[in-house]
Amino acid sequence: MASIEFVKVSKVFDRQPVIQDLDLNIEDGKFTVLVGPSGCGKTTLLRMIAGIDPQTSGSVLINGKDVTRIAPGKRGVAMVFQNYAIYPTMSVRDNIEFGLVNNKVPKDERTRLVETIGTTVGLGEYLDRKPSTLSGGQRQRVALARAMVKNPSVFLMDEPLSNLDAKLRVQMRIELIELHKKLGSTFVYVTHDQMEAMSMADTIVLMNHGVIQQEAAPEVVYRKPNNLFAAQFIGVPPMNIAPIGEDKTTFGFRPESAVVTTEPGEYHYSVKGTVVTREMLGSETIYQVKTVDGQAFMVKCPDDRFHVDQVVYLGVPADKLYFFGTDENRIDEQDARYRELLERLWGTAHG
Ligand SMILES: Nc1ncnc2c1ncn2[C@@H]1O[C@H](COP(=O)(O)OP(=O)(O)OP(=O)(O)O)[C@@H](O)[C@H]1O
Ligand SMILES: [Mg+2]
Repeated sequence: MASIEFVKVSKVFDRQPVIQDLDLNIEDGKFTVLVGPSGCGKTTLLRMIAGIDPQTSGSVLINGKDVTRIAPGKRGVAMVFQNYAIYPTMSVRDNIEFGLVNNKVPKDERTRLVETIGTTVGLGEYLDRKPSTLSGGQRQRVALARAMVKNPSVFLMDEPLSNLDAKLRVQMRIELIELHKKLGSTFVYVTHDQMEAMSMADTIVLMNHGVIQQEAAPEVVYRKPNNLFAAQFIGVPPMNIAPIGEDKTTFGFRPESAVVTTEPGEYHYSVKGTVVTREMLGSETIYQVKTVDGQAFMVKCPDDRFHVDQVVYLGVPADKLYFFGTDENRIDEQDARYRELLERLWGTAHG
């Protein structure tokens, strides 16, 4: 068990600041997912926790203790990389045990541990096989088991599933959630895939350009995004955003929040448009609708009733609308501007 804390942490590469004065608390025993676009600093943060590539300034604390001067092997953390190195000439058993050999654990204790952990990750029957005879997902589990055998209080995982095909990835996602439940240790998981973040995280830490944009439970990031970046990074297709008025204030709605009809409906925001694309995905259909005022909105419908070139109306209820200020931050319902913007949108649509 361990909590992790970043206090005013900065990281400079070749005189280029990548992270500046970052503060972050990662709760003990939680599944925390660091998510953000490529190059935003996720791996950099993970490597600072592991001690592989320490911060330029500021402190990293594990369980309240500054670990700046503590060597990577002594921090009680284990890291699983995107390109996990398992040894092709060693059996699964030896690969897992390799995590222990340097720790002077007695032989019979090692055998017991390898078998218990091998079984935990579902490799009980494969312990004497060579990695080349395993599937991608099974190999991934060898890497996980090798990290687990060290009994770390913190698991650091850097895009561990990115080498797997879509189906295996979904399966491994579920296995990792279960593993986390079973172990109760702190998981810090890095991905640029927002679906992965949404499905696994207790807490999402959303980053952009080395700056934390939002730190909250997945449903909070989805329902109450802090700003335009969060609103458009989480969710597929992303939230629709369009200008409202002369300044840079914008409004938005999720693709699934718009109701599509062939006659104008009674919605707070309502606009006429033409279907320009249709993507039938089985359980839902995604349409792109070009509105009379030149906006292109994505809408997600449970049924497949419309065709390309059809004239339709999009309606969005008031409680599904979002507003963002000129600073790109979301304007909360409590904010005095909210009511005024809501009224302005009603005026635009029907004027
Ligand atoms: N060793 C290094 N030397 C110089 N710059 C580096 C080094 N490592 C990382 N960077 C830079 O720091 C920034 C953050 O890199 P980082 O690897 O943390 O991104 P990331 O969020 O993990 O991205 P990805 O999703 O592509 O893995 C990038 O702009 C990268 O170019
Ligand atoms: Mg990375």
